[in-house]
Amino acid sequence: MDCFSSSFESVPSYGPLLKAAFSIPISHYFFGAFFIFLLCFCHFLEIHFFRDLLTGFAGQPVSLTFHSSSPVYHFVASKCKILHSRYLSTPWLCSPHLQTAFLTFFGRPPAYNYTRELFKLADGGTIALDWLMHTDVMKPGVQENGAIIPDGKIPIMIVIPGLTSDSDAAYVRHLTFKMAKCGWNVVVSNHRGLGGVSLTSDCFYNAGWTQDIRKVIEHIHCQHPEAPLFTVGTSIGANILVKYLGEEGLKTPIIGAAAICSPWDLLICDRFISRRLVQRFYDKALTFGLKGFAQLHQSVLSRLADWEGITKSRSVRDFDNYATRLVGKYETVDTYYRRCSSAGYVGNVMVPLLCISAIDDPVCTREAIPWDECRANKNIILATTQHGGHLAYFEGITAKSVWWVRAVDEFFSILNSNPLIHTSKEMQVASPSPAEISIDQAPYVNVMTRLRMQFLL
Ligand SMILES: *[C@@H]1O[C@H](CO)[C@@H](O)[C@H](O)[C@H]1NC(C)=O
Repeated sequence: MDCFSSSFESVPSYGPLLKAAFSIPISHYFFGAFFIFLLCFCHFLEIHFFRDLLTGFAGQPVSLTFHSSSPVYHFVASKCKILHSRYLSTPWLCSPHLQTAFLTFFGRPPAYNYTRELFKLADGGTIALDWLMHTDVMKPGVQENGAIIPDGKIPIMIVIPGLTSDSDAAYVRHLTFKMAKCGWNVVVSNHRGLGGVSLTSDCFYNAGWTQDIRKVIEHIHCQHPEAPLFTVGTSIGANILVKYLGEEGLKTPIIGAAAICSPWDLLICDRFISRRLVQRFYDKALTFGLKGFAQLHQSVLSRLADWEGITKSRSVRDFDNYATRLVGKYETVDTYYRRCSSAGYVGNVMVPLLCISAIDDPVCTREAIPWDECRANKNIILATTQHGGHLAYFEGITAKSVWWVRAVDEFFSILNSNPLIHTSKEMQVASPSPAEISIDQAPYVNVMTRLRMQFLL
């Protein structure tokens, strides 16, 4: 010890400090280092356990964005308790990455079997429509509230899954089962080449491919002309849904819709996903899924796209460059992203639309959320939560329940029970005065005008 301190005599001011530093047991340094590592780790994984603990596990309030004179808010969303309460994530899934990973690897999907209908398209393509009828999970003709409604008038919910997801995805099963339990008939419209069917034409789906869902909706409306139709899109499916609603305007037979964790702007999401280390990990995971999808349809893809490029793809962007762009005949990847982004179609949505996005979504970044466009359109309610991850939103100590599924169920049930969408007499009473209509001219047509038009048609 003496020898050690004498060697530092030339710098007397540091001597005592170093001496003190060396007198601290080495285990304390390990403890300190471990604590700093833990902090960095928590920061990296965006763990919000301590914040939840400090707020007494009360969760964060849901933030709603809408037009101040939106009839969808005043007649429907204002009555939704879930949208006006708080979301608290499962305490042991207190990070967007843990939430999303849990959904991907476990997800706790409810068990039931679909009834499959193969729907043929004019170009020779095949879409698997997977039905779950309310009678499959509950007693016939009885709703949860005991009311009996005739079979043909039972509301139908059409689900559009996300990228490379099909009717077996855990979140689709959560949604489908919950809605069927509440007396709805649910159909999952699998994308082409997914859900275990092969590609029967040279046509693929992509993030902006609305032709298929248009045909599916027409088909279901034709088969069940009296049933109120609702649609839910998730992730890429939400992008397709919003783009479809914007393209159709008043022409769609859909009565209400929900867009869950939509990417909104594919260009922004593409830049976001390649920026940080943790996002690049998701990029790799998505690419892995896309390459798996490509493998299934190698015979068609190797003819239409650059197969060598596909096998070498290391990001979604690479894959889109070597496959999606070529099959969809877009000049560049960015052209594809720009043309297919749904953000530009938000202003033209003419049906009540609930949008749910998590601020901490690790894939579909908050940077792409079209706040102003949603606020300008009277038909849209945008609900954002601090936490939830990508499509996960697990809640409760056993992570049995998914928050957005409950929110969609409540919103759709209140919308469907609104007499304004079923009886013309009351609709006339509540429809806007002519003066109001002239103010609310396109592109933001008042929802009640649309509801009345729908009935008269
Ligand atoms: C689903 O179908 C399979 C095979 O037909 C059957 O073994 C299983 O019990 C069914 N599951 C449910 C929940 O009905």
